[in-house]
Amino acid sequence: MRETRRWFVLTGAGISAESGVPTFRGSGGLWEGTRPELLASPEGFRADPARVWRWYRWRRGIVAGAEPNAGHRALARLEDHAPSFVLATQNVDDLHERAGSRDVIHLHGRLFGTRCSRSCGMPVQEEIAADVPLCGCGAPLRPDVVWFGEGLPVEAFQDAVAAAEECDACLIVGTSAIVHPAAGLPSVASRAGALLVEVNPEPTALSGICDLALRGGAATELPRLLEMAGISSEPTGPGRV
Ligand code: OAD
Repeated sequence: MRETRRWFVLTGAGISAESGVPTFRGSGGLWEGTRPELLASPEGFRADPARVWRWYRWRRGIVAGAEPNAGHRALARLEDHAPSFVLATQNVDDLHERAGSRDVIHLHGRLFGTRCSRSCGMPVQEEIAADVPLCGCGAPLRPDVVWFGEGLPVEAFQDAVAAAEECDACLIVGTSAIVHPAAGLPSVASRAGALLVEVNPEPTALSGICDLALRGGAATELPRLLEMAGISSEPTGPGRV
């Protein structure tokens, strides 16, 4: 890792878990006891847009009240030190940005973004506090996220593939790695000869192809990984050594 020049990082819900943002799968996850397609698919939105908006507003509230954790900060610090660094996230929250990461690739969109469900191209005005806000064209507005059955933003995914192909080391943090195509990115890096490092308390679909697994929470393991790579995890400043 000390010799790594080009880093590619893929994060998932687990990196925000220690900030109090629930993951999707597993006990207490967002998908527990619910059918994901009711809340996160175009069909679910068409059937009951108010229900979908209620769920996304609830999630916006959780993220707005959350703070980035030491894992997010460690990745921002790694970006400061690495000659080349690309971070792609499946998360729709903004905790990477708030921790100082720049140019984050959002593969699954953004929780705080809103767009026309008919993609009419009109700019979205300040959101009306309606159960289902409407676009100027009359169609319902929707959260600017990627739902099941929808394609990823083309440019974002292409940039992530290019970074995976070119990296020396690929870090996979807090993802169960079962939702494709994002989950396929580490395999692209692996085929190109990169070192694969997983940070996750549990084994995942990708553990078998990883060179190293750090089994613990991201807020503990990412600062530790920076130490291994010879980078101090928190900025030094007055009163700090
Ligand atoms: P998941 O909920 O599927 O997986 C979360 C992963 O984080 C699991 O592997 C956990 O073991 C791990 N984890 C839990 N706590 C952790 C911690 N403190 N530090 C590190 N890892 C931890 O979330 P994703 O893999 O992100 O898509 O899910 C991928 C996609 O499926 C999401 O973007 C979303 C979801 O359905 C859509 O909504 C389209």
